[in-house]
Amino acid sequence: MTVTDILPVPAWRDDLPLEYAALVERLEPLLPCLEVPMHLPWIDAINALKQQRGAVIMAHSYQSPEIFHGVADITGDSLGLAQAAADCDAELIVVCGVHFMAESAKILAPGKTVLIPDLEAGCSLASSITAADVLALRAQHPGVPVVSYANTSAAVKAESDVICTSANAVQVVESLGVPKVIFLPDEFLGRHVAGQTKVELVLWHGRCEVHEKFTAQQARHAREQFDAKLVAHPECPPEVLAEADFVGSTTAMGKWLEREKPARVAMITECSMADNLRVQFPTTQFIKPCNLCPHMQRITLQNIYACLRDLQHAIEIPADVSARARAALQRMLAVGRRESV
Ligand code: 13P
Ligand code: SF4
Repeated sequence: MTVTDILPVPAWRDDLPLEYAALVERLEPLLPCLEVPMHLPWIDAINALKQQRGAVIMAHSYQSPEIFHGVADITGDSLGLAQAAADCDAELIVVCGVHFMAESAKILAPGKTVLIPDLEAGCSLASSITAADVLALRAQHPGVPVVSYANTSAAVKAESDVICTSANAVQVVESLGVPKVIFLPDEFLGRHVAGQTKVELVLWHGRCEVHEKFTAQQARHAREQFDAKLVAHPECPPEVLAEADFVGSTTAMGKWLEREKPARVAMITECSMADNLRVQFPTTQFIKPCNLCPHMQRITLQNIYACLRDLQHAIEIPADVSARARAALQRMLAVGRRESV
């Protein structure tokens, strides 16, 4: 049974299209035409509940357009959402993203209630490594500090010295001032970072199941067939990154588009992200990939509504794990963001 089977569909009102005219205009080019009116009653019901509860909804850039544009108060990449959670005034935060993102919000806002609409929204990188694996790596490389990607569990973060995202990985690695670090769990991001620093990296074998699927042949096809610029996320395989005109984090990709204003661009990253950027850059033609993150897709308007109505799926983390993970996350926040990565 899905959540839609047990939730009554909020009532349609004839004034909804007028009330949400600006949103409808934004969503219509991004979604099949029949979908927009289906979403409006849910968006309206979520916005009303959100106000009643005094909640803030944070959505990652890989969330579907109806969530990203329709109900989110704060949108961003994983670093942006972590910073927003640390600074948030609301007592109730709903994270529309994957589990590690909701955990990071709870770790940085321990006194707040942090909800995730679906606890099963995981990540192949986060599930590629455990806290015991980190301890084993430390034993193999005594004295070498551990830099963990944000795409890890709270337990792994607790065993790490510092966290990074794709927006600040080189900066974080270099902030330690040591010749060698253990960098986990994304092998491809690690190889990309290794190419930009003199620090030696010990890598793990984690992969993003979405980005690892892109091939160099697809990238070349987009360039040759559509005369498109290629923009890729560093979780892609090295041979794909070698074809790209720009490699960068979710936010850095947007900034590159702002600077370069290409006539055509192929976004070699998660598919909803390309949709969400399209709204911002109406003069650029987007060649869309079709790789959607199945974990991000678990979040829907219906389970956001249920989550707010029933205050369900609160993130809980043991206090000692949370305190150690917070120290590692705070070290990252002190380093900040470097947009060119
Ligand atoms: P960002 O750190 O760029 O938000 O990416 C998170 C992610 O899950 C990429 O696949
Ligand atoms: Fe994890 Fe990849 Fe999905 Fe990002 S896109 S959440 S790295 S599986």
